[in-house]
Amino acid sequence: MSTENLLKRRSIRKYKDIPCPADKLEKILEAGSFAPTGMNRQSPVMVLVTDKETRDYLELLNARVMGDETKKPFYGAPCLIVVFRNPDVFTGFEDACLVMGNLLNAAYEEDLGSCWIHRANEVFSTDEGKELMKKWGVPEGFIGVGNCILGYADEEPLPKPRKEGYVIRVTGE
Ligand SMILES: Cc1cc2nc3c(=O)[nH]c(=O)nc-3n(C[C@H](O)[C@H](O)[C@H](O)COP(=O)(O)O)c2cc1C
Repeated sequence: MSTENLLKRRSIRKYKDIPCPADKLEKILEAGSFAPTGMNRQSPVMVLVTDKETRDYLELLNARVMGDETKKPFYGAPCLIVVFRNPDVFTGFEDACLVMGNLLNAAYEEDLGSCWIHRANEVFSTDEGKELMKKWGVPEGFIGVGNCILGYADEEPLPKPRKEGYVIRVTGE
């Protein structure tokens, strides 16, 4: 991933109704699995969801957390990767966030749009969410960190300006 592309990736909130090619998804998942993790514990777990029925159900559960089941928080993206953290690993949250970062950036490299969609913690704390985790084989007690929605972008958002004071330089001069 070039530094230039790190600057070009944007969160996409409008998608074409085209499935994600399996080979691209595999590359993105591999990139996720190569994120650095504390003591190389590789503590997170990723769940790829391409099944439309499951994807739609997850979107409904996510909207329910928002308090409005008519909302479409997955913006028409055809698939997603849910990242879970291991509650017993003290770098578990950081590990999972870096996996999410790799997924988002790798998606851009693979010409797919992506966006981190929140509320995975809440969704997978519900009975319905826990039932899905059990069905998928996610280890018991793992905690949802983020949903990386994926698909072909149908918009080209512009980058937002960076805030003043983002960087403090300690140069010794
Ligand atoms: C922890 C986290 C949670 C986010 N949750 C959502 C979300 O639920 N819905 C959404 O549309 N975007 C979500 N985003 C995307 C941010 O809004 C987006 O990254 C930010 O506006 C900057 O835009 P950019 O990614 O195009 O640079 C989330 C991003 C992060 C890092």
